[in-house]
Amino acid sequence: MGRIAYVNGQFVRHGDAVVHIEDRGYQLADAVYEVWALFDGKLADAEGHFARLERSLSELSIPTPMSRAALTIVLKEAVRQNRVRDGLVYLQVGRGVAPRGHAFPDQPTAPSVVITVSAVDRPALEAKAAKGVTVITTPENRWGRCDIKTVGLLPNALAKQAAKEKGAGEAWFVDELGFVTEGASSNAWIIDADGVLRTRDTNANILRGVTRRTLLDVLAGEGMKVEERPFTPQEALEAQEAFITGAGILVLPVVAVDGKPVGNGEVGPVAMKLRRLYIERARATAV
Ligand code: PDD
Repeated sequence: MGRIAYVNGQFVRHGDAVVHIEDRGYQLADAVYEVWALFDGKLADAEGHFARLERSLSELSIPTPMSRAALTIVLKEAVRQNRVRDGLVYLQVGRGVAPRGHAFPDQPTAPSVVITVSAVDRPALEAKAAKGVTVITTPENRWGRCDIKTVGLLPNALAKQAAKEKGAGEAWFVDELGFVTEGASSNAWIIDADGVLRTRDTNANILRGVTRRTLLDVLAGEGMKVEERPFTPQEALEAQEAFITGAGILVLPVVAVDGKPVGNGEVGPVAMKLRRLYIERARATAV
């Protein structure tokens, strides 16, 4: 008999097991997981793994999909159906399926639950243990590669949700030196107190926004003064205007940061002009 997986309430052939394309685990890494070792078909360290699972779910405000007792029954049934004695059980629980967006879905979604079971070759593992392993070292960079447009978007999703809960439209990440890096799904700009357009340089750990790049070209064409230099939230408050850029929002004026007005707290003329210029350029060059 072949392998069996559990997907959202059903046991299915492993090869036929699929999740929805808008599962937030798939699109945003908005999910948690646990792995149990199996000894004689029984879950090892069950309590510790259940406790960590519940904590992980709680930290992300993902509802527990079922009681611990019910989950134990499902996990054991998955093990039984796979006839595995020595192996591993993998459990993934995600926020569920919703139209793509960073913040949590407005409508409550049923958490997604996937379980797979795999066998291990215990004698081979023992032989390996008897020999020991070698290791290498690598710089701690989890996750220091925001320049890559990956779907590892959980921090962005949590930041966007925090903004939403405060009635804001975007969250700006601030680095350890107090400078804004970028938005949860946009690049950040100001027109500073001296009237200079500023956006962070892309040597920093940020996404190289395509909208940002094109707007820089547009600005050069207009002969406007631009500096690729970081700014602090305080500088944004003291700025004449602020705005964000991205494929989703194009050029969008920012009127307040952390509840305090940027400039006079109103949409500024320069940001709106840049929005118009960007849209003109984007329309003219669209293929
Ligand atoms: N996000 N920074 C981050 C973290 C982003 O996710 C995005 C875009 C940008 C702007 O990049 P661009 O100008 O190439 O769209 C900057 C997209 C729109 C999204 O996740 O929906």
